[in-house]
Amino acid sequence: MLIGFTRADTGTDLDCLDCHDSGQWLPLSEKPRFDHVRDTDFPLLGTHADLQCRQCHPGDSTEDFHRFIGKGIECVSCHQDIHQNYWGDLCEDCHSPMNWQPAQAFERHNQTLFPLAAAHHIIECYLCHTSNISIPSIDCQDCHQSDFLPELASHTNVGEMSDCSTCHAPTRWNQILAINHGVFFPIRSGNHRGEWNSCSDCHFDSNSFQSFSCLGSGCHSLSKMNSEHCEGGGCQRCDGLTYERNSANSDDCLFCHPQGNESKCGD
Ligand code: HEC
Ligand code: HEC
Ligand code: HEC
Ligand code: HEC
Ligand code: HEC
Ligand code: HEC
Ligand code: HEC
Ligand code: HEC
Ligand code: HEC
Repeated sequence: MLIGFTRADTGTDLDCLDCHDSGQWLPLSEKPRFDHVRDTDFPLLGTHADLQCRQCHPGDSTEDFHRFIGKGIECVSCHQDIHQNYWGDLCEDCHSPMNWQPAQAFERHNQTLFPLAAAHHIIECYLCHTSNISIPSIDCQDCHQSDFLPELASHTNVGEMSDCSTCHAPTRWNQILAINHGVFFPIRSGNHRGEWNSCSDCHFDSNSFQSFSCLGSGCHSLSKMNSEHCEGGGCQRCDGLTYERNSANSDDCLFCHPQGNESKCGD
């Protein structure tokens, strides 16, 4: 018959009554003194808590079973690595005992310099992780060179190794500037919000987004600007630049009003 046994790790004894009620072996005590969470290095979490003890502590005989031999506490000790060691042994980086869903993989990813946003939130990790010995580049152009269309008017002065992220985000290629234009000049917030109809209100030359005008499309009229900026003989000055009556150009406007609101030099 079984006798009390000593736990290998702590040297403390386990008593039959830590798990069993007196008078019967089964069912087990409803409130066992033995607590797997507290008393072992392997708390039973998620689906593990619903398992039969024998699923992890096998044994051919009752006596054998009561030695509570474990295979180890690492996930790989008990679970087959379906990724064939592509991601290494640290399964818990991406998984938990709740389920094998890769939700945690995305969380893990959020801690890198490259959160998987929008179009990148796809499950085919291997489209980017083409090798498990190197970490992919975070530069758009390293992966999207082949998507680049040099013939596009919008790509004048842009090359296949230019930084796509200046103008694009990982949503859809043709949606991007809507989000990123603020990098150059706010048009969806601030004073210019809702004040324009098309890109060409400001960008007259569809071949180059670098050129723009503040004075076209009935936006700011030169005569109104002249009176706004000049009084008597003097005109507004800012950091060495003077407003040029009758020939103010748009680069000058941007120089004094980089955010499209009050002048950076104040009144
Ligand atoms: C850590 C908890 C734990 C301790 C301590 C423990 N047992 Fe058990 N015992 C179990 C579990 C769990 C089972 C049921 C195993 C199974 O799933 O078949 C079991 C089953 C048994 C059975 C088989 C019952 C049957 O009808 O199949 C016997 C007999 C038994 N234990 C005797 C003992 C004795 C004697 C001690 C003290 C020396 C002891 N146990 C200590 C957990 C424990
Ligand atoms: C999902 C797997 C799993 C399940 C299910 C499980 N255990 Fe464990 N158990 C382990 C692992 C892994 C260890 C080793 C922890 C360590 O090394 O400290 C362990 C350790 C133990 C120990 C301590 C053994 C020692 O030598 O210190 C006892 C006792 C034990 N389990 C009893 C039980 C009982 C009773 C049940 C059912 C109520 C159970 N276990 C269910 C995985 C499991
Ligand atoms: C001591 C053995 C053992 C260890 C260590 C272990 N597991 Fe388990 N786990 C099992 C057993 C046994 C099952 C139930 C049978 C099965 O689904 O494989 C299970 C079930 C699961 C399930 C549920 C599977 C399903 O389809 O419902 C998940 C998820 C899981 N384990 C994740 C993990 C993770 C993550 C780790 C590491 C943190 C881990 N396990 C460590 C033994 C273990
Ligand atoms: C870097 C993240 C990562 C690591 C580390 C990782 N996995 Fe996964 N795992 C995933 C992703 C993502 C999926 C879902 C997509 C897929 O099948 O590749 C997945 C799916 C799974 C599935 C479910 C497969 C199915 O068909 O439903 C199992 C089982 C699994 N992993 C086991 C493991 C084990 C065991 C380890 C540790 C040896 C491990 N994983 C390590 C990311 C990871
Ligand atoms: C669109 C491309 C892309 C996709 C899809 C992608 N990754 Fe990544 N991943 C990256 C990039 C880029 C990095 C490097 C980030 C950095 O340098 O901080 C990275 C880094 C990682 C790292 C950290 C590597 C380390 O050693 O620090 C892990 C783990 C990872 N990815 C797992 C996954 C898993 C799992 C999936 C699938 C769910 C996935 N990735 C999908 C591009 C991607
Ligand atoms: C490590 C490689 C990698 C990096 C870095 C990367 N991407 Fe992606 N990207 C992908 C993959 C893979 C897809 C999904 C497959 C596809 O559509 O090409 C994707 C999809 C996209 C899409 C959707 C394409 C479509 O047709 O639906 C856009 C837009 C995009 N990425 C933009 C970017 C931008 C902007 C950056 C830089 C901020 C960037 N990507 C960085 C690999 C990468
Ligand atoms: C200076 C800003 C800028 C840079 C840098 C830039 N693009 Fe573009 N790209 C645009 C504009 C503007 C459009 C036209 C958007 C539209 O059609 O609404 C465009 C359109 C595209 C389109 C076609 C969208 C469609 O559906 O017709 C693709 C694909 C594209 N870019 C890829 C890239 C890639 C890859 C890079 C980096 C190598 C890149 N772009 C760099 C501004 C830029
Ligand atoms: C209210 C005027 C205005 C509107 C409307 C506007 N832009 Fe701009 N845009 C500017 C200004 C000002 C700059 C800054 C130029 C600079 O910094 O040299 C700029 C810069 C750019 C640049 C960067 C050029 C470069 O490489 O330096 C691109 C690309 C661009 N705009 C595209 C667009 C697109 C596409 C639209 C329509 C969705 C649009 N813009 C609407 C005023 C506007
Ligand atoms: C040398 C600097 C300078 C230049 C160049 C300049 N501005 Fe101004 N602008 C000012 C200052 C200073 C004010 C006075 C109020 C303020 O601080 O916003 C002002 C006022 C304005 C106002 C009125 C703001 C209001 O409160 O309603 C508008 C509109 C304006 N400028 C647009 C333009 C445009 C368009 C151009 C180019 C044609 C331009 N500015 C060129 C400095 C300048």
